[in-house]
Amino acid sequence: MAKMKEIRVKDLDTTLFIKEKVRELRSKIGKGLAINALSGGVDSSVVTALGFKAIGERLVSYFIDNGLMRQGEPQRVVALFREIGIPVVIIPAQKAFFAALKGVVDPEEKREAITQTFYRDVFRKLVLESGARHLLQGTILTDVDETVAGIKRQHNVFEQLGIDPQKVFGYKILEPLIELRKDGVRKLGQALGLPEAVFMRIPFPGPALAARVIGEVTPEKIRIVRKATAIVEKALGGSDAFQYLAILHDDRVTGMKDGKRVFGNQIEIRCWDSLDARVARPTRLPYETLEKIAERIVDAIPGVVSVTYNITPKPPSTIEAV
Ligand code: XMP
Repeated sequence: MAKMKEIRVKDLDTTLFIKEKVRELRSKIGKGLAINALSGGVDSSVVTALGFKAIGERLVSYFIDNGLMRQGEPQRVVALFREIGIPVVIIPAQKAFFAALKGVVDPEEKREAITQTFYRDVFRKLVLESGARHLLQGTILTDVDETVAGIKRQHNVFEQLGIDPQKVFGYKILEPLIELRKDGVRKLGQALGLPEAVFMRIPFPGPALAARVIGEVTPEKIRIVRKATAIVEKALGGSDAFQYLAILHDDRVTGMKDGKRVFGNQIEIRCWDSLDARVARPTRLPYETLEKIAERIVDAIPGVVSVTYNITPKPPSTIEAV
């Protein structure tokens, strides 16, 4: 397999990069429409802004509400993009995703179920209805590296695995960020005039909160991990960490709540120092901060009786749990 070209952040001339990518997108898309899925993460936000710069309203942006997103996310993302003049349509698709995830416990099978639901079911229909022939997406080099190396099947990698999206899904995928890593994408987001809250946002994975539920993903488990995520993000929001998250374990442990024994849930907190997600170290958070987060989680989520902190670097850990 040909090695992908990498543009390091120090060599990234954003003005030139934007100019080239705008020209490339215009010529590939031609007079037609392109569609893209905005998840609110850094990569998809930046690719949306770049695509909009290239073809304006011929880029139709969707927010697929897969039921696995963070608290208030669909409305927040749509409002934010409306403010910068980019219209986004919310597509409710919770049922399709939970149906595909029912009974699936293996991490790679879970990722595959999400991938297939997203690209084959939800997006194929949208592409057909819209008449678009291209899907624009924010795949970055780290996604490709880890997928090709067999570490994790990132949800958005196809061609590098020998999968032709045109044949399998019926449309072409355009990936203008594929030579960049996260730090380069942030620099590009700034140059494109996105608000800092968008381009400096912590990364969030394509499979969303499903990447943070060990075992079967159900609406109830997503509710628990969503609440824990909101608490962790609020507590660590001002920090310099690269990424922080909550994971819901599959195992239950005995605990006590309101004077009664409960066989309850366990939440694991992770907080990472990293430059580009290839390697990462757990942040040495103050013990008081961890205690406060744990207290908030057990107070706010009735079933949770145990909160732990991951102290293992990547590798051998990975940033997400699934
Ligand atoms: P891992 O867990 O592999 O994550 O150490 C590395 C970085 O990538 C994000 N991540 C994903 N991003 N699709 C994505 O677009 C995915 O399937 C995916 N899985 C993980 C993760 O949040 C971290 O920043």
